[in-house]
Amino acid sequence: MADDTDDTIEINSSYRADFPALSKTMNGNPLAFLDSAASAQKPRCVIDSMDAVLTGGYSNIHRGLYEISQNLTQEFENTRKKIAGFIGASSEKNIVFTRNATEGVNLVAQSWGRANLKAGDEIIITQMEHHANIVPWQILAGQIGVVIKVAPVLSDGVLDICKFEKLLSDKTKFVGVVEISNAFGTINPIDKIVKMVRGYNSDIKILIDGAQGIVHRSVNVSDMDADFYVFTGHKLYAPTGIGILYGKYDLLQSMPPYQGGGDMIERVSLTYSTIYREAPYKFEAGTPAIVEVIGLGAAVDYLVGISMDKIMEHERKLLEYATQAISDIDGLTLYGTMDLTQKAGILSFTMDCAHSSDIGMILDQCGVAVRSGHHCAMPLMEAMGIDSTARASLALYSDKSDIDALIMGLKKVRELFK
Ligand SMILES: Cc1ncc(COP(=O)(O)O)c(C=O)c1O
Repeated sequence: MADDTDDTIEINSSYRADFPALSKTMNGNPLAFLDSAASAQKPRCVIDSMDAVLTGGYSNIHRGLYEISQNLTQEFENTRKKIAGFIGASSEKNIVFTRNATEGVNLVAQSWGRANLKAGDEIIITQMEHHANIVPWQILAGQIGVVIKVAPVLSDGVLDICKFEKLLSDKTKFVGVVEISNAFGTINPIDKIVKMVRGYNSDIKILIDGAQGIVHRSVNVSDMDADFYVFTGHKLYAPTGIGILYGKYDLLQSMPPYQGGGDMIERVSLTYSTIYREAPYKFEAGTPAIVEVIGLGAAVDYLVGISMDKIMEHERKLLEYATQAISDIDGLTLYGTMDLTQKAGILSFTMDCAHSSDIGMILDQCGVAVRSGHHCAMPLMEAMGIDSTARASLALYSDKSDIDALIMGLKKVRELFK
């Protein structure tokens, strides 16, 4: 692992060597991995932590009376505490293990939503939501007749807060907002939005989709004061298959289970009523993603060791460099043109000479991995009058050489398609 005492992360990341996959080549070129917003690479310590469980003490948890099961149960539950600390939750009881961010939103929609909303109640989301914070509400609307209102985005990719505020009404019961847009990198003013909603009516429940937010900056859910916060492990340098739903405890406790099965019950009877465990356990039916939870814990240790503020600073410098460099490419249109202080390390763009899928394919030949498509944000694409963009996204391991490879690749696109 890199030296944690180094307090001057340069535009060349000293943490790159911690990620074994980054030493690979792609199509004969050094790999410039610029698709971390889709899923991040894993540091050696995360891989090792999972390997250690699988080779040195694996069993199911919460059930076995034998030593390895007890030890792993302890480690699993300690990870819940660690995650609570990482996001500033007051207790580990606020932390529900889910499969991913998507499952967290679905849980809130189907558990809290079905129990508390009725036909005609209004939900406000934004035009820049990932499908994960749109479709669960559309399903709920189909089931019980809630009405979805959508706050628009301005042409520079910033949320139109004035129009958002005008959508609040006596019927508003729920607000769901993405912290950082995965498509354009917009950092939403979450504190301002929460204050505005609370000021209007403190009974309105608020969910923040932190799938990108948690990756790029330090998060404190207690200060944020949202009711729910969701994120996903695989974008946070942890494995796939593990996500987190944070919820205020009284709220979680008041909600019915989302799924039924083993581990979430106190007692099951075919004669009397089945009794569920308290939150968060009543939301964790079945065997959890044990090894993946341990991997997420190792990722959190790793990030705390570096510090989220340092990561943010590194990505900011690189974003400045990349924004300048990409703006020099002829015929390229950048989306998300707000001030860089309101933007995370995501560069979404189109070119007049080539479709985003052609850009992606040429960059692949140059060893540069970017995402081409709608980024699961079709309503945002529609609002901008486009069907897709090419997207380069930064992580703590990204450095100047990645951006230079991107720029070389884009020049090649220009040459080939001019
Ligand atoms: C902002 C945002 N929300 C939600 C998600 C969904 O994450 P997952 O597919 O891990 O549930 C993503 C993934 O791209 C995202 O970027």
